Amino acid sequence: MTNPTHFLDLHEVSKSDLRTMIDDGIAVKKARAGFPKGTADTGRSLEGHTLAAIFEFPSTRTRVSFDMAMRQLGGDTMVLNSADMQLGRGESIADTAQVLSRFVDAIMLRTDNHSKLIELAENASIPIINGLSNNSHPCQLMADVMTFEEHKGPITNKVVAWSGDGNNMVTSWIHAAGQFDFEFRIACPKELTPDQRALDWAKEMGASVYVTQSAEEAAAGADCLVTDTWVSMGDDAGDRHNMLAPFQIDEKLMEKAATDAIFMHCLPAHREEEATAAVMDGPQSVIFDEAENRLHAQKAVLRWCLGKIGE
Ligand code: CP
Ligand code: NVA
Repeated sequence: MTNPTHFLDLHEVSKSDLRTMIDDGIAVKKARAGFPKGTADTGRSLEGHTLAAIFEFPSTRTRVSFDMAMRQLGGDTMVLNSADMQLGRGESIADTAQVLSRFVDAIMLRTDNHSKLIELAENASIPIINGLSNNSHPCQLMADVMTFEEHKGPITNKVVAWSGDGNNMVTSWIHAAGQFDFEFRIACPKELTPDQRALDWAKEMGASVYVTQSAEEAAAGADCLVTDTWVSMGDDAGDRHNMLAPFQIDEKLMEKAATDAIFMHCLPAHREEEATAAVMDGPQSVIFDEAENRLHAQKAVLRWCLGKIGE
């Protein structure tokens, strides 16, 4: 049996495969332009395939985009809440992996603990996809790179500036910077710095990743400003609102970026916290293109995991 192709983190996938997936997402999006949402893509490339999408945390975009992606690719999805499974009563991840491998063709897991994804992948004979963990959110980054490139052209050598919490999204942005060769500047409070392992990986890769405590310094001349919620799922709010207030993206901070810079946010958003409504709903914001691209980018991830790209 050949090893299944998992999509757990961007730094574990080759640069060329990541590029192939972005290009596939763009091609798949173009090919179905104008199709009603409920109709399948030409080719129905995942016909006969079923995805089990398991959620330990709430989700709107990930849940709906994976389900619609599978439907449009001609396949099926089972959306499962882990609390309703025997997992919620203590059945092991290893046994769950083996059982689901007998029923479905791939598993997407959203989890509060990244080690569960690893354990699932170690014990499954089918592809495992990270639909967000406490560590990272690689599917979101595929949509983000795709969205950036639709608006600004190739991301290589461009500058993306983060202002906010050094959270799971930052880890995936760091991985993306190393894999797609762009500069990533992170402005965050020193108490909320990004995952050291991701920073160490970036250093090893020679990636252009910088951390500062100045939102203005990070934003200067950037092609894109990006942020995320101040309190991620599983976090306590604690003193985060006070610590993160200086990192809010407002119109004044947008003015420090390049004049044609875009604003991104993975959503869900809290207007007047991590970004003002004026920025979130302003002319430079591409947040709803970004949300839509979850659908197209995830089709590429699913097609890659199931060996359907280039068939
Ligand atoms: N961006 C994102 O993953 O959204 P959901 O939490 O709604 O899935
Ligand atoms: N950092 C956020 C992302 C939500 C899509 C969280 O983990 O809650």
